[in-house]
Amino acid sequence: MTGLLALALAGALQTGAAGAAPVGDAARGAQIVASRSTGLCVLCHPVPGVQSVQAGTLGPDLAGVGARFDRAALRQRLVDPARFNPQTIMPSATRTEGQQRVAASRQGRPLLDAQQLEDVLAYLETLR
Ligand code: HEC
Repeated sequence: MTGLLALALAGALQTGAAGAAPVGDAARGAQIVASRSTGLCVLCHPVPGVQSVQAGTLGPDLAGVGARFDRAALRQRLVDPARFNPQTIMPSATRTEGQQRVAASRQGRPLLDAQQLEDVLAYLETLR
């Protein structure tokens, strides 16, 4: 019995470690995008449902972005924005090097971890 349980546990752990990509949660993604301390997206982007006095306008309005891009294209824009505009001011969500003006407290840490990236993608897809 104990052996079986151990086996089941080992199996569960293994599945976790082998790491199917985390599944995104759009509601969490919405919070990340709207947060001025987590995603920082609103510093530059108008975002539907976020009051415009709080939103920056350096980047395009994210309204409709889920209709303009599929998930793979959205992922590329978040992970490697410089690929589309070498002079872009948009930070990569996952890089820890080559970013500009990173606060000391964030040095060496990506803007979003793997789960947060999936959450943000799930949310962006709902903006149609
Ligand atoms: C420092 C400003 C800045 C921040 C912070 C920022 N962006 Fe951007 N983003 C831009 C700019 C500017 C563009 C326009 C393309 C370019 O010049 O790079 C852009 C483009 C995009 C695009 C493509 C939109 C289109 O219609 O072409 C998406 C999607 C996007 N950003 C999502 C995000 C998300 C999600 C976050 C937060 C995790 C974020 N951005 C954070 C500035 C920013």
